[in-house]
Formats: sequence, structure tokens, C-alpha cells
Amino acid sequence: MEELSEEEPPGSTPLIRARNLEKALKQKKFFIKFEGASRTGTQKDRISALHAIRARELGYDTLAVATCGNYGASVSYYAKIMGLKSVAAIPESYSNSRTEEMVVNGTEIINVPYKYEEAVGMMKDLANDNAWYNCSPGSENSHIDMLGYEKIAEEIVSQLGHAPQMLSVPVGNGTTLSGIYRGFVKLKSAGFTDRVPRFIGASTAGGNPIISTWKKHERKIVDLKPMAIHESSLNEPLVSYKAMDGQAALDSIYNSHGFGEYVTDYEMTYYSRIIENTEGISTLPASASALVAASHVLSKLGHNAECVIVITGSGKKWTVQ
Ligand SMILES: Cc1ncc(COP(=O)(O)O)c(C=O)c1O
Repeated sequence: MEELSEEEPPGSTPLIRARNLEKALKQKKFFIKFEGASRTGTQKDRISALHAIRARELGYDTLAVATCGNYGASVSYYAKIMGLKSVAAIPESYSNSRTEEMVVNGTEIINVPYKYEEAVGMMKDLANDNAWYNCSPGSENSHIDMLGYEKIAEEIVSQLGHAPQMLSVPVGNGTTLSGIYRGFVKLKSAGFTDRVPRFIGASTAGGNPIISTWKKHERKIVDLKPMAIHESSLNEPLVSYKAMDGQAALDSIYNSHGFGEYVTDYEMTYYSRIIENTEGISTLPASASALVAASHVLSKLGHNAECVIVITGSGKKWTVQ
């Protein structure tokens, strides 16, 4: 593992014109922004690297995170690169498919008998008590996340030459979506693009307050009841009863005249296979929710807009040799 410098944070993921996918789904212009090409296979690398750099600058020796797995794997990797320790709280009901990697990187794992949202609260207290740097969503450090995700917008505009008409993103806490939105707004105000895309937020059927609030035409985010959400090994990155950046994501969808769309586990798996079969790209099913949602929305609208699909995760199996 090599060192990391602030001048060269992670990013520069490919933007791929998905011509075979267009044919299969009868769409005009689909581009895949493939975040799965990052070092630990998800968009989370963009923010964990920034947190690791900042934590070291501030003199912390430990990164702390509550995670469904992907963010933990990324934090664990960048902590190791930057010579820091790491601690990850993971709900014990989760599939823990990335725990082995974290252990190999030296991360201390705390399995918590609660839902993800409670693990976030628990990590906040533990980080305070132990003087750890907390990189969990919703923490005092989470403004950094926006800076990381804004870069996705910058890259898309530089790769495509302009902002697309529409952009679809998987939604859990809503951090990724609101960061990309903020990136486009900044690019537009600086005159680098003449529009902000219409944002499509994709999440797991019945299990995300950003989408449920949008569907009710409400402007203020309304949390779901904890018992109303159902985790599965496929929807873990997206399912939530309280989204940490929910209001910002909801505002981004409304301000861009966008859409919120629910997607079933079956659809995520099925569309993940379509991407693999047409474009040869292996994707995490939860991240294929962005494609499902885009196809739903575009067929409802009845037009062929140019659309960037942000595929947030790779389908690679992260086993340790
Ligand atoms: C691969 C992947 N995609 C999307 C998301 C959702 O991102 P956010 O919580 O920023 O909405 C996550 C969250 O863990 C994820 O791991």
C-alpha cells in the first residue's frame, strides 16, 4: 500500500457510454459513472481518504466508523495507508461480507446488536470518550463528505463535456446524492456548465425516508418507523429509517425537479446481471438500483433523455487470499 497525498485524492473513475445497455433497454444515451473502479470498489473511497488525511493532520491516531460494510472496508484501507488505527461498528444482523478485509487491515470490529442508526449513535459516544476521529455519516466531521462527492460532478462534466440532462444515484443516507448535486450547483454558478441534471434517487422498496417523503410530496423529511424497515443482504447499503443527510438529499431532488424511486431486491439483481451481460461490468446489486430507477423514470416520462447512471459499487467478491 502506498502513501496518500492530499493533492491526489481518490477518484478519476471511468465514465462509460453504455451502448449495449442502451440497445437492451431501448434508451438513447446512457453513461455509467463506475465508482466500482475505485480501490476498495465503492464511492466511499472518495470520502474515507479525505477523512484519513484530515484525521492525521489534526493529530488523531484512530478513525472510527459505523458501517454496513462498504464504508468500513474503505475507512479501514485508508487508515492503514495513512498509518492510523481504525474501529468499525457493524450491526450484527448485517451480512458482514467485508469484515474479513477490515480485520486483515487491523481494524477493531465491534458487532452491535442494534440497527445501523443506533450503531452511528453509539460510535459518536465511543469516539468522544476515546478521542477517536469519527468519520460516520452525520458526525461533526461529515461536511468533508460533500467535498469528496462534489468531485463526481466535476469529473462527469470534464469527461462528458457538459452536464447530463438526468443523473441517477443509489440512496442510503443521501450523502452521495447531495454531494454530487452540490458539485453541479457549484459548477453551474462558476459558469462551467449551463444546467444541473434532474436527479433520480434510487433506494430499496419501502425502506428509505428520502424516497418515501418524496413520494408523499412532502418537503420536510419524515423518518420511517424502525420496525417498518427490513434489511436483506442486498439492500444493506440503502435501507434506513433515518437518513443522516436525508433533508439535503430530498432538497436536491426537489430543487433539480427530480424523482425518488423504490427498487426491489429482485430488480437490483436482475439489472446488475443486465449490466454484466451487456457491458461486461460487474456491479454490486444495490448500486444497480440507479439503473432500475432511471429506466422506470424514463419510461414513465416517455422520453429518451441523456442520463448518467452512478454505479456506486463493484460486484467483485472481496475475499482475502
Ligand atoms: C455501494 C453503495 N452505494 C450507495 C450507498 C448509499 O450512499 P449514501 O449513504 O451516501 O446515500 C452506499 C452506502 O453505504 C454504498 O455502500
